[in-house]
Amino acid sequence: MPDLLTIENLRAGYGEAVVLPNMSLGMPEGQVLAVLGRNGTGKTTLMNSIVGVVRRFGGSITLAGRDITSFRPDERARAGIGWVPQERNIFRSLTVEENMTAVAQPGPWTVEKIYEMFPRLKERRSNFGNQLSGGEQQMLAIGRALTLNPKVLLLDEPTEGLAPIIVEELLKAIGSITRGTGICSIIVEQNAQKILGLADRVVILERGTIVHDASSQALKADPAVLERHLGVAGAAATAH
Ligand SMILES: Nc1ncnc2c1ncn2[C@@H]1O[C@H](COP(=O)(O)OP(=O)(O)OP(=O)(O)O)[C@@H](O)[C@H]1O
Ligand SMILES: [Mg+2]
Repeated sequence: MPDLLTIENLRAGYGEAVVLPNMSLGMPEGQVLAVLGRNGTGKTTLMNSIVGVVRRFGGSITLAGRDITSFRPDERARAGIGWVPQERNIFRSLTVEENMTAVAQPGPWTVEKIYEMFPRLKERRSNFGNQLSGGEQQMLAIGRALTLNPKVLLLDEPTEGLAPIIVEELLKAIGSITRGTGICSIIVEQNAQKILGLADRVVILERGTIVHDASSQALKADPAVLERHLGVAGAAATAH
């Protein structure tokens, strides 16, 4: 089966600065990919380049057989790129519910489903975006990305600021959504330990380049790789 998302020889950055010199990555349906790497290694830039909000110098992106390279960010969203940005970017002057219905597309993820996963959002459904706590904004950003019913779900450090119990539930939900509905998910995470249980595959970035690409099984069995690329903290996190 061809990949759902294909990135080929992508060269991207900001202004004149190239952050991703030559990125190639294929994602099949049903796969959760974790992107690890130290600060400033280009994880967010990779996500942003799939969304289309950074400068592209070359290369292509194909979604379900369709070349979306020249698509604007809103066209990419409609084509099925769901995005939970690192800085959340929820609509502050819309209510919780409006944030989700503003972008909703038909599919298994309805606003009601999101409320089941995040009852807190249901309680706050009439509150405006600028009246939410950090964790609530985070839930809303995830809910908004899901009600788009994306083919590819991009999550940039989605667990930051959420209580451990919600993190656990969220990661479980991402796994079952991805595998059950045949989408693919790419999750940027700082903490390797949190994500190895969920991800099928892990890539590690250094200076905008994939320096390691392996199954999470293989990575769990070889913590030295994490130590080498992420430092002691990353490796120690897997030793528990
Ligand atoms: N808007 C921008 N303009 C210019 N350079 C940028 C911009 N955003 C990021 N960069 C640079 O691009 C490089 C990669 O940044 P990026 O945000 O992709 O890293 P990251 O791996 O997501 O880091 P973190 O773990 O801190 O979120 C860094 O050197 C950063 O300084
Ligand atoms: Mg980042």
